[in-house]
Amino acid sequence: MECLYTESIEYIQSFSLLGVIGLVAVTYSLINIINTLLWTPFKLFLLARVLPGVDFRQLGKWAVVTGGSDGIGRGYARSLAKRGMNILMISKYHENLHRTEQELRREYGVDVKSVAVDFTNTEVYETIRHELQGLDVGVLINNVGTGTGSAFQTFLQINNLLQSTTDVLRVNCISMTNMCALILPQMLEKRKGVIVNISSIGQSGYLGSPVYSASKSYVSRLSDCLQRTYRNSGVIIQTVEPGIVMTDLYMSEYENGTAPKFLETAKNYTSVAAEDFASSAVNTIGWTGISNGCLKHYFVSVLAKIGSQKTIDKKLLDVINN
Ligand SMILES: NC(=O)c1ccc[n+]([C@@H]2O[C@H](COP(=O)([O-])OP(=O)(O)OC[C@H]3O[C@@H](n4cnc5c(N)ncnc54)[C@H](OP(=O)(O)O)[C@@H]3O)[C@@H](O)[C@H]2O)c1
Repeated sequence: MECLYTESIEYIQSFSLLGVIGLVAVTYSLINIINTLLWTPFKLFLLARVLPGVDFRQLGKWAVVTGGSDGIGRGYARSLAKRGMNILMISKYHENLHRTEQELRREYGVDVKSVAVDFTNTEVYETIRHELQGLDVGVLINNVGTGTGSAFQTFLQINNLLQSTTDVLRVNCISMTNMCALILPQMLEKRKGVIVNISSIGQSGYLGSPVYSASKSYVSRLSDCLQRTYRNSGVIIQTVEPGIVMTDLYMSEYENGTAPKFLETAKNYTSVAAEDFASSAVNTIGWTGISNGCLKHYFVSVLAKIGSQKTIDKKLLDVINN
């Protein structure tokens, strides 16, 4: 009888232990869901917009934006000029730089400098170092980026594979690395500054553009390492992983091929204009180490994490190989 009693007690105890574990697991999942679906978007795209954020002007007089003459970079340049920062833009063509330079001076009355260099050439960093001399740089936006010509090509289908890959790695990865190497030391010395590294939502491995995607993975990983290394240095380092932004780069890569239906739908519902994207993304600086820039792209990244990679890969490969 006593034995039966002890067994029953043990049985009940094991049940209550399972119950506690279950309750903890459910509570943890609920907190995660609330955090992902409500608190994070509320914090990044509403609170960050209305509350006073980083005082950019107090970080230094100048913001350096690579690829600042067009697209997302131009959006960042405009947003930072609006906040009173002088802008140094580094892009390829004089005429595009000149056009944006005039626009920033006229609309915001700030000082603007531009440097015309081609980041596919690794010799350009001496010129950039020279141009940076004596500038009090508070913000660096590592934005310049390029692709391999189409977002619907497997690795071996990329035209002129070796040259194309070299160019993408130089523009997307080497520029970000070297610009950090040039500017981070003065920020660490001042114990203040902001570095934003523009990666892509596709950094997790987009089969239709493998070299571009892998180059963005490099940007995200290095940015993350720098952020963790200099966490307590006073310098804010942020990684930005945008979804679809309607720019020349997007057009040149995605219009060049037949998109599978899910990408067409993604474009129709989630694409944003470059200036809207940048203005929302600037608000998130100081609020998060990794940002998708805007609310739509935040939810795209949440969905992408839930979605099945295998199904997406299959749909994409069907289109590419047909
Ligand atoms: N658009 C999207 O959907 C999307 C999505 C995810 C991530 N991104 C990333 O966001 C960043 C900006 O892209 P975007 O769409 O705004 O591109 P974009 O509209 O094509 O603008 C690119 C900028 O970079 C400059 N640039 C390009 N190649 C250059 C080179 N070899 N040397 C010097 N400057 C060069 C361009 O200058 P010139 O005008 O003088 O050539 C222009 O100012 C990139 O890193 C891209 O990977 C974009």
